[in-house]
Amino acid sequence: MSTKRSIILLVALLLMANGVFYGALADHGEHRGKRWYQKIFDWDDDDDDDDDHHIDNRRGSKHSSKRYLNPVSNPTYNEECGACHFAYQPELLPSGSWKKIVAGLSDHFGEEIDLDLESKKIIAEYLKANGAEYSAAKRAVKIMRSLRGQTPMRITDVPYIRHKHQDDDIPADAFQRESVGSMSNCIACHTTAENGIYDDDHVVIPR
Ligand code: HEC
Ligand code: HEC
Repeated sequence: MSTKRSIILLVALLLMANGVFYGALADHGEHRGKRWYQKIFDWDDDDDDDDDHHIDNRRGSKHSSKRYLNPVSNPTYNEECGACHFAYQPELLPSGSWKKIVAGLSDHFGEEIDLDLESKKIIAEYLKANGAEYSAAKRAVKIMRSLRGQTPMRITDVPYIRHKHQDDDIPADAFQRESVGSMSNCIACHTTAENGIYDDDHVVIPR
């Protein structure tokens, strides 16, 4: 077969596949209006808010999806792991990451963290049970999708999180400012981070 004819055949096949995929997925509210190839690489999208109106925060709702992360609910975790930095919601990392973090507390990013056995057990169980893979929150779903099985030690190493902060709207020096310190300091910019809300309309980058 000539190259020209193979190309025409290929294009025809792609157009057909597009129609089939598009038809099959067109009913899913979250995906409406996107091409099939955009759906496959969905964590990379920037339209987080146009699909929110029919998603509520109850587990097991019709779309089994919720909008926000659950605020931290464990007092031991809040106290021990919120002492030096914002107490990150467990849904920001998979339980495999949390397991490594808890196992490595004797050298925690240069700090030595000494916990009594009971607190350590409570924290490990809380993190294990509430990791991103168990969450129906859409940002946790995007975190899991972008990780493809990796279990990084940092939230700021999650591809989806990195990608969201490489936006042209964020000034180049924003993370180095004294009022911020580093990208790990979510609460410096996300004014509603403690409530598990990371929507860009609640972001204020301090000077
Ligand atoms: C003694 C202070 C201290 C305590 C207590 C502490 N951390 Fe940290 N943690 C740090 C430092 C320092 C960093 C690195 C921050 C940076 O790079 O800006 C860090 C970073 C992290 C990160 C990565 C943040 C990122 O960049 O995405 C996670 C996750 C984390 N800590 C979890 C925990 C957990 C879980 C506990 C409780 C068991 C805890 N931390 C308690 C000092 C502490
Ligand atoms: C210097 C300020 C700053 C810090 C620190 C920061 N962010 Fe952000 N973040 C932003 C801005 C600005 C956006 C909006 C980017 C855009 O235009 O889409 C954003 C977007 C996001 C989004 C996507 C929200 C959406 O609606 O698309 C998530 C999730 C997020 N940040 C989580 C975090 C977490 C978790 C941390 C801490 C580990 C963090 N951010 C630290 C400024 C910050």
